[in-house]
Amino acid sequence: MREINLTTKIGVYLLEECSDVEKNLIEAAKSATKRAYAPYSGFNVGAAVLLGNGEIISGNNQENAAYPSGLCAERTTVFFANASFPDQKIEAIAVAAWHNGRFTSDAITPCGACRQVLLETENRFGTAMRVLMYSEEGVYVMESVKDLLPLSFGDEMLK
Ligand code: THU
Repeated sequence: MREINLTTKIGVYLLEECSDVEKNLIEAAKSATKRAYAPYSGFNVGAAVLLGNGEIISGNNQENAAYPSGLCAERTTVFFANASFPDQKIEAIAVAAWHNGRFTSDAITPCGACRQVLLETENRFGTAMRVLMYSEEGVYVMESVKDLLPLSFGDEMLK
């Protein structure tokens, strides 16, 4: 038997250490939490993506009385961006969550299904997507979706 150990690098930044572009992206994700439709969980998630042309697109979670029919903020945002600007790569995504009257103190990390969709987008455009996960304590930053989803299944498996 041999063992494989995977290591993951996460940068933890104070908001003031982030660049202006990153601050704008995080601000867009925070602001998008205000427009979430989350009457069932009360967990308002906002996401914002930075396109290759510098434009920022934001979105949020959209829940449904038939719970599985709802969609997370990350997928709502990425699908909207890809549907509207199919030729624009996504360079970065920021995610924030508002719960119990404040932004979360733990960094908000994308669920498994969202990671898979983010990976597809990264592969589709052939550019690493930075993932900025906001919390009141700091911002977790990963340089690529591949770091968020090790041992992933992607398009290369189908070739
Ligand atoms: N949610 C997101 O939108 N993104 C995440 O990364 C985690 C969870 C949503 C789904 C659901 O509407 C609510 O948060 C509670 O799970």
